[in-house]
Amino acid sequence: MKRGSKLYYRIFISALACLIGTSAYAETSQKSIDLARKLYFRLTGSASTPKIREEMASYIEAGDYEKAAHLATQGPGFINNTIRQFSSAIHNRNQNPRANNYSESMLYFMLVAREDRPFDEVLKGKDFPQINIPAGANCPSGNRLACAEEGKYDLSNKDILVSSTNNRVVGSNVPANEAAGIFTMQGFGNAAYDMGTNRRAIQQTFNQLWCLANENMKSDVAVLDYIGRDVPRSSDGDQGSSGVFEKECRKCHSVMDGLKGAFAYMDANGSASISYSANTVNPKYARGREAYPDGFETRDDSWVVTFDRDPGMIAKLGWPSSVVGGKGVSTFGAAVAQTDRFYTCMVEKVIDTVCPQDPNARDTGKNFILHPTKVVPQIASDFKKSKNIRSVFEKVAARPECLGR
Ligand code: HEC
Repeated sequence: MKRGSKLYYRIFISALACLIGTSAYAETSQKSIDLARKLYFRLTGSASTPKIREEMASYIEAGDYEKAAHLATQGPGFINNTIRQFSSAIHNRNQNPRANNYSESMLYFMLVAREDRPFDEVLKGKDFPQINIPAGANCPSGNRLACAEEGKYDLSNKDILVSSTNNRVVGSNVPANEAAGIFTMQGFGNAAYDMGTNRRAIQQTFNQLWCLANENMKSDVAVLDYIGRDVPRSSDGDQGSSGVFEKECRKCHSVMDGLKGAFAYMDANGSASISYSANTVNPKYARGREAYPDGFETRDDSWVVTFDRDPGMIAKLGWPSSVVGGKGVSTFGAAVAQTDRFYTCMVEKVIDTVCPQDPNARDTGKNFILHPTKVVPQIASDFKKSKNIRSVFEKVAARPECLGR
């Protein structure tokens, strides 16, 4: 009896081993470790420890990939490397993703992401990032951005990168009531307001905050009344001698010039600092006014939506129909924060950062890893509600198409 049950037991165990397949079981586990390693690296740009891999792998074995990803985003590399990379093209005039030196606006992305703050604060937040020099380090130049960069300060550390309302990392005179996240910070601000006519702020918004190329600024039906005096037209105000105003110039400038008033008090000095002149339109708004003196003259910082009669443009931006204009840069930031396209654009940037794919995919429309009309809009609309950028990273990196699981 005793012998018999032992034998049956042995047979039972062998059968069980065959059913599960002991070697296959070990493989699953190694596979989970490998997936954990990959997931961690994609989310942090740095190597994982065996301990974190084990922890992540146990969630992976349980099928909870997003929880595994959440462990990874606690790593310092998520802020120091991934958020930096994700936002890099936004803060420089050439929109170069490899020009990733620190700027005030980049640090603000890092701060908002690290603190899990509603992500639209990058467009309308009233506070600023500030850097505390870590113990043992020094910053003889006093340039905290450069010191943070050279000294590789850990900006995921809550004692080093902090929020401030009175002490900016880069000097600026933007009053608190006009502060509008990156729109009033060094970095994005310099890309937008250095030289030119501040129209670049709108171009930068289209390209980098809506992920839309210049062509998408064009409207055939937007009203022409706000096109600046520096855009030449013939005296009939419409046709232009060669018709070029009608065929080309008006399409962008009707849209852009209605909005540009928002930045009338803003200016920038190279890549160094930005400035604000309360109630004084920057002289750049009058430059070239002799080209068409009957054009629109900017008198204050109000702006108008000229494309409200263009359903194509409204749909493309997911522009809120209730917003027909505003006064000042902060109202413009708040309007961008209400557009659907901002959230889609950020999701697209997340995908570019943690889900490697054909670099030309966006232009060619081919080889998208995440389905551009099914998966991406869903993640984007969830993001517009949650406003949590960390969870977007986790969701995207954990997607089966992205992780290759
Ligand atoms: C694709 C959109 C687009 C079209 C089409 C377009 N522009 Fe512009 N224009 C811009 C942008 C963007 C800027 C701001 C560039 C900058 O400051 O870097 C600008 C700036 C300008 C400026 C100010 C230049 C300065 O010194 O900063 C003038 C004048 C101008 N455009 C005239 C024209 C004329 C004339 C045409 C037609 C021949 C035209 N634009 C067509 C987008 C466009």
